[in-house]
Amino acid sequence: MEPRVALLRAIAVAAVVLWSAGAFAQPSADTASPDLVRRGEYVAIAGDCVACHTAPGGKPFAGGLALPTPIGDIIATNITPSKTAGIGNYTLAQFTDAMRKGLRADGAHLYPAMPYTAYANVTDDDMRALYAYFMHEVAPVDTAPPATRLPFPFDIRLSMAVWNLLFLDRHGFQPNPAQSADWNRGAYLVRGLAHCGTCHTPRNLLMAERAARELRGGDVGAWFAPNITSDVNSGIGGWSEQELVDYMQRGRAAGKSQAAGPMAEAIDQSLRHLTTADLRAIAVFLKGVPALRDPGDTRPRYAWGEAADDLSSLRGVAWPQEPDRMTGPQLYDAWCATCHQAQAEGSFDGGLPPLFHNTALGGTDTNNLVMVMLDGVRRETGTSETLMPGFAQLSDRQLATLGSYLTRRYGNPAATVNEEQVRTLRAGGAQSHLVLIARLALALVVIALVVAFLAAVRRRRRTPRPP
Ligand code: HEC
Ligand code: HEC
Ligand code: HEC
Repeated sequence: MEPRVALLRAIAVAAVVLWSAGAFAQPSADTASPDLVRRGEYVAIAGDCVACHTAPGGKPFAGGLALPTPIGDIIATNITPSKTAGIGNYTLAQFTDAMRKGLRADGAHLYPAMPYTAYANVTDDDMRALYAYFMHEVAPVDTAPPATRLPFPFDIRLSMAVWNLLFLDRHGFQPNPAQSADWNRGAYLVRGLAHCGTCHTPRNLLMAERAARELRGGDVGAWFAPNITSDVNSGIGGWSEQELVDYMQRGRAAGKSQAAGPMAEAIDQSLRHLTTADLRAIAVFLKGVPALRDPGDTRPRYAWGEAADDLSSLRGVAWPQEPDRMTGPQLYDAWCATCHQAQAEGSFDGGLPPLFHNTALGGTDTNNLVMVMLDGVRRETGTSETLMPGFAQLSDRQLATLGSYLTRRYGNPAATVNEEQVRTLRAGGAQSHLVLIARLALALVVIALVVAFLAAVRRRRRTPRPP
């Protein structure tokens, strides 16, 4: 193509793009119907925007919550319609770009702590409703939270452009005509708005979700979001659809599992407010997710253990002077038995759960057991509150002794808890070496470039110049 023609064509294309972007921006704020706003509110709940964009005790959506990532804290921004501190000046097109491409209105890249890789699946209709809700219903807050400051080289936001090329799927949600309407609705929610994979899918060295291991289990800070593929032993293959719905609606599936930590929050703020039809659709989809098994899981994680009583063995035995030398049964008797009962059978129709037939004790990863002992359980259920106190006052040694006793007696006997693990989790989870690795990689690239440059110079000197 001739350069002039190419230039003219580029200008024409740019003009069309600008014009259509402008046209896209027109039907924004003022034309939203109450129905659209209501739908947008539901979309915002399904997307759990409030969980990240609200600081503890802060105003809804005003940002300020620091999300700990292996490379440092990323601070969620103000997404109220404030024109000075929030997204009040965003057009629908800019809002859509932030949600799907991780692009801020000023063109800067967002860090994927904002789950735009999942929201890339949100449909145009839902996006329009969501935008209407934020612009019309959310109260503007004119204070901006502190800016995110990451260590070099992660402070270079442009590096996310490369990351996006590698890991952002821009195709959007594609329904699968071979599957039922329920399955498709479930897939849309799980992979899109409800972003289950953000926690439940393991990540690679560059913090991207590993698509081939969808929902196989991943770390969320100090917690572990377990395998929820359809595998019978490692995942939810043995759960009925109703049990999955119960778990998402009330935080517990009788005789199987109770939700604490980040899952309890996801249920409180998002999942329990969804329609039963949507929860059932999620369950249908989960039951069809390809099974991925952890070889250590030799039976379903909820199928270990039985009622058993070691407390009689304590009678007439003097307790040690030194608290760190207490045995597992002594610790259980002192701290847990009042609620979970002598045989760990629980009571009150599951309000106090048994510790056998409980996924918290049946997996090979015992991080959640430690976290439940440290932090307890807290869930709102609309009318009541589910509460187990934390026992952070127990020492690392005591929690390791108690945890290992519980898995041996009531759970998967191959699973153990050790002191080092308790110490690490108490401090907020494993520290990442990613910062170090990135700096090393960068240093290697620089060294390689210098070496290549020097080699080229020497080669040039050696080749005789043409006369
Ligand atoms: C898992 C946490 C998380 C959830 C859930 C989440 N966000 Fe975010 N979001 C963030 C973080 C963190 C940032 C800032 C990232 C950065 O500074 O690079 C952000 C940034 C944004 C921005 C860019 C605003 C700006 O100018 O900085 C928009 C818009 C946004 N989020 C909208 C939403 C909406 C709408 C939802 C719900 C559908 C949502 N977010 C859910 C974490 C989250
Ligand atoms: C913010 C992170 C996060 C998100 C988002 C999340 N989960 Fe979870 N999930 C967890 C954690 C952590 C646990 C373990 C909780 C515990 O042991 O008390 C868990 C536990 C579960 C369990 C119980 C598994 C078992 O074996 O006991 C199911 C089922 C589940 N999640 C389904 C989902 C679905 C479906 C979604 C999306 C609709 C979802 N989760 C979104 C973090 C999350
Ligand atoms: C004051 C009563 C009480 C005491 C004491 C108590 N628990 Fe609990 N425990 C609960 C309640 C309530 C739940 C949550 C029930 C629910 O979610 O429906 C629970 C849940 C659990 C769970 C499952 C949580 C999950 O996320 O999977 C484990 C494991 C557990 N407790 C272990 C312990 C241990 C170990 C001790 C002793 C150190 C202990 N509990 C002491 C009341 C108690």
